[in-house]
Amino acid sequence: MNDDSRYHWPHKDLLDVTQLSAEDVSHLLDLAASFQEINQRPVKKVPTLKGKTVVLFFVENSTRTKTSFDVAGKRLSADTFSLGKSGSSLNKGESLKDTALTLQAMAPDVIVIRHYSSGAAAFLAELLPCGIVNGGDGWHAHPTQALLDSFSLRQAWGNNFSGKTLLILGDIAHSRVARSNVHLLRMLGVNVRLCAPRTLLPAGAEHWPVEIYGDLRQAVRDVDAVMCLRLQLERQQAGLLPDLAEYSRRFCLGASHLALAAPDAKVLHPGPMNRGLEIANDIADAPASLVLDQVASGVATRMAVLYLLAMRNEGGDF
Ligand code: CP
Repeated sequence: MNDDSRYHWPHKDLLDVTQLSAEDVSHLLDLAASFQEINQRPVKKVPTLKGKTVVLFFVENSTRTKTSFDVAGKRLSADTFSLGKSGSSLNKGESLKDTALTLQAMAPDVIVIRHYSSGAAAFLAELLPCGIVNGGDGWHAHPTQALLDSFSLRQAWGNNFSGKTLLILGDIAHSRVARSNVHLLRMLGVNVRLCAPRTLLPAGAEHWPVEIYGDLRQAVRDVDAVMCLRLQLERQQAGLLPDLAEYSRRFCLGASHLALAAPDAKVLHPGPMNRGLEIANDIADAPASLVLDQVASGVATRMAVLYLLAMRNEGGDF
């Protein structure tokens, strides 16, 4: 853990990694490492957040983010409860504002929100006094995914990110994961490459601090890690991809591509994966794959996020 006792986490909310300083990130990842140790104990529970309440407000589907925030809260002894669109009064037409005010009236300490609209987390952060965590909003941002990805890479690479090269491959246009990761990885000193069909690159990507490739064999050469992205079929507009078989032939990461990367290169995927479309089945399960490490890192990283937001006015240590 960062032992600089003068450090104070300054943020009420976590809306995107763009709000974080290098010191914030270093402190958060060090704290996650401490929590990772708790996750390896036979009894994986500490009383740190006893009496705190965490709401998981997931208006869009999730497996990893929702369950790992739930596990993270419970391992710190917080009370967690969930609200989704299905089964809530959102389905009767209640507005996001009224739903949020209703949740606030129950005095939660932190609300984690996932929403299909970019800006939904920021809307709640302005409206409510409790801490808000963005669990993914539209195409905009997924800060805890980027933080957990860097936590996984830190375990693989040690603390030395400077001079490493990482390729982000696939549907970048629709990816909040890519947007948050480009910012955080560049902050940590990683060279970032993007590889995608032109129709799946975001407008303005040529102004991002990245190298852009259209050919996977060139893009993957000598990289230290490849982050495959899910082809977001539910967000595709007509005409972006004429043929999924052609996409897979040109952009699905396989063993022959990984052979061109640096020795011991790692493979990441935020999940859920379309096996055989953006990542070959054998690569998803290969020793180089960090996919399940990312899930484990998600619990530790989200424990750190919940701790920092829920305890921000209380000082102390865990
Ligand atoms: N990576 C990620 O956000 O996965 P879920 O959609 O399952 O939460």
